[in-house]
Amino acid sequence: MCGILGYTGNKQAAPILLDGLAKLEYRGYDSAGIAVYDGGNINIKKSRGRLKILADMTEQGDLLKGTCGIGHTRWATHGEPSDTNAHPLWSDDKTVVAIHNGIVENYREIKDKLSEKGYSFYSQTDTEAAVKLIDFYYKANNHDALIAITKAMQVIRGSYCFVIMFNDRPGEVWGVRKDNPLIAGQGDGEAFLTSDASAILQHTKHVYYFDNFEIAKIDADGSIIFYNKNGEQVNKTLSEITWDAQAVEKGGFEHFMLKEIHEQGKAVRDTLHNQDIGIRDSEIKNISQIYIIACGSAYHAGYVGQYVIEDLAKIPVRMELASEFRYRSMPLDKNALAIVISQSGETADTLAAMRRAKEHGLKTLAIVNVVGSTIAREAESVFYTLAGPEIAVATTKAYSAQLIACYVLALRFALVRQVINQDYYNKLFNELEEIPAKIDEILDQKENIREIAKKFINANDAFFLGRNIDYALAMEGSLKMKEISYLHSEAIAAGEMKHGPISLVENHMPVIGILTQSVLYKKTVSNMLEVKSRGAYILGITTQGNAALERDADFIFYIPETDEHFAASLAVIPLQLLGYYLAAAKGLDVDKPRNLAKSVTVE
Ligand code: G6P
Repeated sequence: MCGILGYTGNKQAAPILLDGLAKLEYRGYDSAGIAVYDGGNINIKKSRGRLKILADMTEQGDLLKGTCGIGHTRWATHGEPSDTNAHPLWSDDKTVVAIHNGIVENYREIKDKLSEKGYSFYSQTDTEAAVKLIDFYYKANNHDALIAITKAMQVIRGSYCFVIMFNDRPGEVWGVRKDNPLIAGQGDGEAFLTSDASAILQHTKHVYYFDNFEIAKIDADGSIIFYNKNGEQVNKTLSEITWDAQAVEKGGFEHFMLKEIHEQGKAVRDTLHNQDIGIRDSEIKNISQIYIIACGSAYHAGYVGQYVIEDLAKIPVRMELASEFRYRSMPLDKNALAIVISQSGETADTLAAMRRAKEHGLKTLAIVNVVGSTIAREAESVFYTLAGPEIAVATTKAYSAQLIACYVLALRFALVRQVINQDYYNKLFNELEEIPAKIDEILDQKENIREIAKKFINANDAFFLGRNIDYALAMEGSLKMKEISYLHSEAIAAGEMKHGPISLVENHMPVIGILTQSVLYKKTVSNMLEVKSRGAYILGITTQGNAALERDADFIFYIPETDEHFAASLAVIPLQLLGYYLAAAKGLDVDKPRNLAKSVTVE
């Protein structure tokens, strides 16, 4: 989704903005723009399409001189992707120039009121209404920026972060947020505002996190001042980001996704050794049931976790899509634990669902990757996955770290509730310690998957089949396939094939079966044979030593043996590689698939 960056200091702003926006490209966008204060005027350049167009248009920023500016990558919500709708947007005389992430829900109402006062509108965006509202209050309040912003906040409904410049306030950039990420970076004689730390990591690791309804002013001398919604100054604590600037570079890999696939061993190891799992033993004893709430791949990780927690800790678990849970009317048990899973910690639906769980008195435990994110800050307790920054839109290492977090919780719950003894706990934990080496073993065979992926290049549809944990994996494998390689695919609980989907099977259709659960091998094999006899090309992913598919599959990929509770951590690797290599073979933009965003901060 949209990327936001503001800079003020003693260096030329435009190259810093273009460079920082490039670090935010991964979030997904369709247009980009920058505005730079040249001492007298605010000059704006923007364009539909890739950032490169904007960079060329401004001669890599050289054409826009000035040491204070703002930049934006836009993922269209209101109004098509176009030069006009791209941000920054401005008030008629360019008194106010701003960029925005989020949605102004009551923008029509605001437009109507402002139209009555003589304002006209040139774009289809919701943002323009907010920019002009700030302009209105600015002019009505003797050019007081703080009053203008606080007054506008009282009117604007929805979720937002705005970064704003005023044409009579050289050197100043203002930021404000509600339910959308915004941080202020403290450099040496310079300061930044951004929606994502990746954009400023090479300049500073010292940041302030905005709370909801907080406003900040950054100034040319590098000072940062925070205010609350009443306009009172607030003191904030400076935090240090532990991520390395190198982590947001490709490091010799062709794509971020491939690099991140290779970083999974480390993500797993680091997360496994995170001592702070966010929940105390006394709380674990009282859990009556668990809701796991998430979106996308995080939901799929939770889906695996559901089986593992139920089997090991014997606590009933219910999976909930955040976008459904937030609007669902259902009795919620006050002694239940809501586990929300989110890489970014900013997904709008997951955040709203977590708030709902809190309102109903449930304990909330968030499994989150981004430190200081909104979900991490609002959850009662947090178990951080230590995957490091994830840049590719299609998640890999964060998903793997989420799986580990779920296993660690399952083991702890089982031990504390005395469902398993210490010896068994140790045995399973030792198995987890071996996962990273086994992941690397699988990665050594990636060429085999590349070969197989080439065979799928002309396919129109694919099925992923599995049962229980393997079904949860099928969902993730299918999502990886469709999101980056654009091959239509569906995950089907193998037992459901006969209830409809089998009618879609045609000659040479790829069907990928996942078989890591020994009690279910034979069942899934039967389902695969049924599709094979109808012409499907069948690929099995199974554990070394399982010969059940040997005679019949067109291709088999073996994963190393592990305790079957944890097999998803290994079987997901060939599934990720399959999606990756198919997308790469098709020459697609693997890291930035069409229409998708890394972090979905609007509903
Ligand atoms: C987007 C991303 C997915 C991710 C999902 C949930 O759709 O493209 O990779 O799984 O959001 O994101 P979260 O940050 O909450 O894990």
